[in-house]
Amino acid sequence: MEILLDTANIEAIEKYAAALPLAGVTTNPSILKKEGNIEFFSHMRKIREIIGTNRSLHVQVVAQDKAGMVKDAKTLLEQLDQEIYIKVPANEVGLEAIKELKSEGLNVTATAIYSKFQAYLAIAAGADYIAPYFNRMENIGIKAPEAIAAMANEIQQSASKTKIVAASFKNVDQVTTALEEGAQAVTVAPDIIKQALAMPSIAQAVEDFAVDWESIFGKNSTIA
Ligand code: E4P
Repeated sequence: MEILLDTANIEAIEKYAAALPLAGVTTNPSILKKEGNIEFFSHMRKIREIIGTNRSLHVQVVAQDKAGMVKDAKTLLEQLDQEIYIKVPANEVGLEAIKELKSEGLNVTATAIYSKFQAYLAIAAGADYIAPYFNRMENIGIKAPEAIAAMANEIQQSASKTKIVAASFKNVDQVTTALEEGAQAVTVAPDIIKQALAMPSIAQAVEDFAVDWESIFGKNSTIA
């Protein structure tokens, strides 16, 4: 299982790269917009500096045609590094770009996946990761758990090396469901991680242990 952070926020990346077994960071233009007036390449270099090269960094192309997408990919590789995963929307031109990028041996993440068929095409095109949009699928009446299970099944049937990095989560339950349905990876915004670890029951359990310890060994006593 891989847990990635779906953010470009430097503070959150620093925090969770230190605190969690983080596998990488995913970004897209909407995520970058939240960071305000940034200098794109230096911001991405800073993220790489924090996460190192053992974790994956997924950066999206912005061109709308195949040649432009391939050019974006080359620019990202030149300006950033050769290890980055090029995120390409799995639409008609995107799938064509994915095929070309994979024929050159580049790392590719097929994104904006809303349907099983889109996923099957991206798997066949050799994408390293496919990113089904869990919450957005549910919003338009597509059952994300069932779709992810079918994608996982297709990967297994075709003995493909593609991994599912499920994305677009709005709550913790969606994240665990995606993993249970066969996603090998999930990319999660910092507020979802915070939500998951801020359950009142966790805080209460920790507090109860502290009170019981102090009742035996006295206030401020430590294991020593
Ligand atoms: C990540 O790769 C996706 O682009 C992202 O999770 C989409 O999330 P959203 O539906 O919250 O915009």
